[in-house]
Amino acid sequence: MSIACDMLVFGGTGDLALHKLLPALYHLHRDGRLHADMRIIALARSKHGRDDYKALAERHCRVQIAKADFDPQCWQAFSARLDYFAMDASQSADFTRLKRYLGDTSARVRVYYLATAPKLFETIATYLKTAGLADPYSRIVLEKPIGHSLQSAQAINASLGCVFDESQVFRIDHYLGKETVQNLMALRFANMLLEPIWRAAHIDHVQISVCETLGIENRGDYYEHAGAMRDMVQNHLLQLLCLVAMEPPVRFDAESVRNEKVKVLEALKPITGQDVRDKTVRGQYSAGQIGNQQVAAYYFEKNVDNDSDTETFVAIEAQVENWRWAGVPFYLRTGKRLAEKTSEILIQFKPVPHALFGGGDANQLLIRLQPEERISLHMMAKNPGKGMKLEPVALDLNLATAFKQQRRWDAYERLLLDVIEGDSTLFMRRDEVEAAWRWIDPIIKGWQQHYQHPRPYPAGSNGPEQVQHLLERHGRKWMQGPTQ
Ligand code: BG6
Repeated sequence: MSIACDMLVFGGTGDLALHKLLPALYHLHRDGRLHADMRIIALARSKHGRDDYKALAERHCRVQIAKADFDPQCWQAFSARLDYFAMDASQSADFTRLKRYLGDTSARVRVYYLATAPKLFETIATYLKTAGLADPYSRIVLEKPIGHSLQSAQAINASLGCVFDESQVFRIDHYLGKETVQNLMALRFANMLLEPIWRAAHIDHVQISVCETLGIENRGDYYEHAGAMRDMVQNHLLQLLCLVAMEPPVRFDAESVRNEKVKVLEALKPITGQDVRDKTVRGQYSAGQIGNQQVAAYYFEKNVDNDSDTETFVAIEAQVENWRWAGVPFYLRTGKRLAEKTSEILIQFKPVPHALFGGGDANQLLIRLQPEERISLHMMAKNPGKGMKLEPVALDLNLATAFKQQRRWDAYERLLLDVIEGDSTLFMRRDEVEAAWRWIDPIIKGWQQHYQHPRPYPAGSNGPEQVQHLLERHGRKWMQGPTQ
């Protein structure tokens, strides 16, 4: 059972709160993980009453939560925790009203979850302070992206730093809450087998792909300013890269794990000048078809300019310049409206030094985060019959069937519980976010300087043609989607 606390959700009527946070909190409640006294207070501008909000929350949660998991009785008990307070987060006076509303809750943990536009982060933190709502028991949770550049991230971090100690700030990247992402750490640091070969001498290259079939889902306003680089690469993809490349931490605690991740980000070779053209590909989807669905071009989406220059696809060849990884390319790619939804990491090992049975494939380790959680090690084996004809065969670890009695937690469930318990191991530290921007900024600047417009790719494809070239010029190819 976790500790008694109040969770205040700014942006309480938004998609994140209704589609992710409340369903996650409902599951935690159902599993008996929340303290009996915990309150969840949604904050937003609309003039709802408490009961209207509960009805709104129920409507959304009934859609988001699997039918078998939605128990009306349990929902009643859960909704007794819910409350709503109408306020405008850009008005200082509303924070004074909020303080009066909350009453004397000194020495009670208070979690402020900012499910709002990033432009409100600094204002909210400042007004929490002036209203006397920030104390040593408070925690603040921020959604990515933190800022849109190094400078803006530094400004946000500095403002937060004036109100909260770094140990009270939880910068969320929901990829770190995914089961298989944590399994990546277990795989690397709890098995002796891989460590000796987890290095440049044995690994040819690494691919990290997060491919989506979804578009921007009515988030044109946000996405036009973010693009795939800020929405996905700066955070989710770089976090995955860190977990693959980091050195074993001394302990599994917030400081040790994050120290190692920062070292990886600092070792990323800057991509500037001509390298921006040679080592990156930007794309934007045009009209196409995904399954039976006809999809319009990105620039027809709501709140998107019809001559928009925003990328919905990015591929990058990155290098981690340290002893372990010198010379090993890390290929990153992510895009919207692609042929299939998959998130996977491929570790491509080098071929054996002497090909006794003729040429052939080399070992691969495939870590699939989505759609299913699976780790497969492709080993070379002999095809039955005469002759030494070899084929790769997968040693498969299907995590969903291996632990089939256990419910699969959503990333937000785990992360929300960590916030309540004050464990920031799976959250991004200030220097980590800034190191990521330090590497991303010159690439974005390079695109602007060279007028590198996004290349069109049809919705339902694997991205722009040029993305193949990124690997093919070195005799490599991208992994082939979920049926592989
Ligand atoms: C979010 C991005 O952080 O991650 C979205 O803002 C993206 O654009 C989503 O669709 C992908 O998350 P997941 O868990 O579905 O892979």
